[in-house]
Amino acid sequence: MTLDDLIKTDSIVTDIEYILEQGKGGVDQIKYVIHMLIVKNKNFHELQNSSVDEINLDDVISVLNTKLVYYYLENFQMNSNYLEVFLVKSRKVVVDFILQREEVSDKILFLISVISKQAWKCEYIFFYDDEDIEKINKIKEINEIYYNLVCFMFFEMPKEIIDLISVEFNSDIYIKSMVEMINISQEVKLIDIESSFKINDDSGLVREMYEENPYPRWTYNNYLRCKVPLGNIFENFCDRDKTKFLNGRKNPRVLIAGCGTGKQVVGFCESTLYKEVLAIDISVNSLKYAKYMVEKSDIKKVSFHQADLLNLDKNSFGTFDYIECVGVLHHLKQPFEGWSNLIDILEPGGVIKVGLYSAQARSSINQFKQEYKQETDNYDVKSLYEIRSNILNNNDSPYNDFFQKWSDFYSASAFRDLVAHVQEEQFTIPKIKEMLKRLNIEFMGFHISRELRVKFLNEFGDESKLFNLDYWSEFENKNKDSFYGMYQFWCRKNKS
Ligand SMILES: C[S@@+](CC[C@H](N)C(=O)[O-])C[C@H]1O[C@@H](n2cnc3c(N)ncnc32)[C@H](O)[C@@H]1O
Repeated sequence: MTLDDLIKTDSIVTDIEYILEQGKGGVDQIKYVIHMLIVKNKNFHELQNSSVDEINLDDVISVLNTKLVYYYLENFQMNSNYLEVFLVKSRKVVVDFILQREEVSDKILFLISVISKQAWKCEYIFFYDDEDIEKINKIKEINEIYYNLVCFMFFEMPKEIIDLISVEFNSDIYIKSMVEMINISQEVKLIDIESSFKINDDSGLVREMYEENPYPRWTYNNYLRCKVPLGNIFENFCDRDKTKFLNGRKNPRVLIAGCGTGKQVVGFCESTLYKEVLAIDISVNSLKYAKYMVEKSDIKKVSFHQADLLNLDKNSFGTFDYIECVGVLHHLKQPFEGWSNLIDILEPGGVIKVGLYSAQARSSINQFKQEYKQETDNYDVKSLYEIRSNILNNNDSPYNDFFQKWSDFYSASAFRDLVAHVQEEQFTIPKIKEMLKRLNIEFMGFHISRELRVKFLNEFGDESKLFNLDYWSEFENKNKDSFYGMYQFWCRKNKS
């Protein structure tokens, strides 16, 4: 069977659904396989190398209206150089077609819907130039409704226009599904969040950033739906002698600190037995998104509260048996104080999972930030998106290959987080070791992939060394990309 035959196989989507339902594969792996099937397809490959003038509407339809590509774009936020370049070209083809024909056919409505939904998921990071704007303004002169429709592929649209389009095209299933997804932004605004909030002077800029760009926008859950006790998860990763603490505690009190838009909360509740969680964050807009997503799921006992880790009121929330704080502390002006505040509300013997940036793994990001210092320091969106687009379209750019492994390159809030954060500190393993000592907490193990574990064991042999930070430091010095997302590890609070 050739690759092309495989893509045509009708049952493939059913098979994927089955694999997901049975928890036989992670969403990320499945997404990767589908992505490879798409980009290795002969038709797609040829179109990828064609200029916009050489592509006609039916070519675009022939790619986007296949079951597999449609499935991918419907279910995932794409993080693909190839697909993004193709969608941006397709958007130009759609605009040119409307300008020339002065009509919107069923095919056009289908394409607008597919491209707009993906543009919404990626938070409108797709680059447009002056010529695009000129063309869409010409469409406005021809027909205001067509103009509004086309704008959905470029910008976050206001409620009045969404309502207008929804009425105007109420019988078109594709536009209906586009409106349904884009309406999430409107529905999220209506959510209420509790706050007993005192802002620390040092947290203001970070808060502002996440109010503008709640992180991450998401629609699809990225975790397996298998219910396991936390203890079993720890046993896979942590020092066995230290994993007994939760035994006998059926319902540990859990805190997700810096929960963002709730992907982590839903992930935690979906993959463990525990469904009773308190989630806090400094950004109301992130919390609203998180609460909206949780309300849409079948998870019921999650409460959300606005709070600043640098100003945690110990009496407000009580103490916890388990805390997760991933991707947050390195954005505090005083990471140690924030971490220490969390340890204060952790029960003796309780466990905290922390995620911190690795200075070594981020050295190429630092190089990018240095090269584009003016744009990253000032978060100059237009220039940054243009730089990004040049990288995507230039296979010879040193960053083209490099950024393909960072999913955070492909949507606006994540890209801002990756290269233009207002407050960021990076860590080394020796520095973490010293902080653990000052906090009087014990390292229990890294949350790592199987490949990384095997690589480490091939080098050091002995499993007990997995729990020794000195060996990990030596390992990272030789393998600088080992913690390219961030260091994620568990620690236990000492009983005395
Ligand atoms: C990169 S996001 C990570 C979100 C989530 N933990 C995840 O992994 O998806 C960082 C989050 O930390 C929150 N944050 C930053 N400073 C904070 C503070 N001082 N107190 C509470 N939350 C904070 C931000 O609002 C943002 O939602």
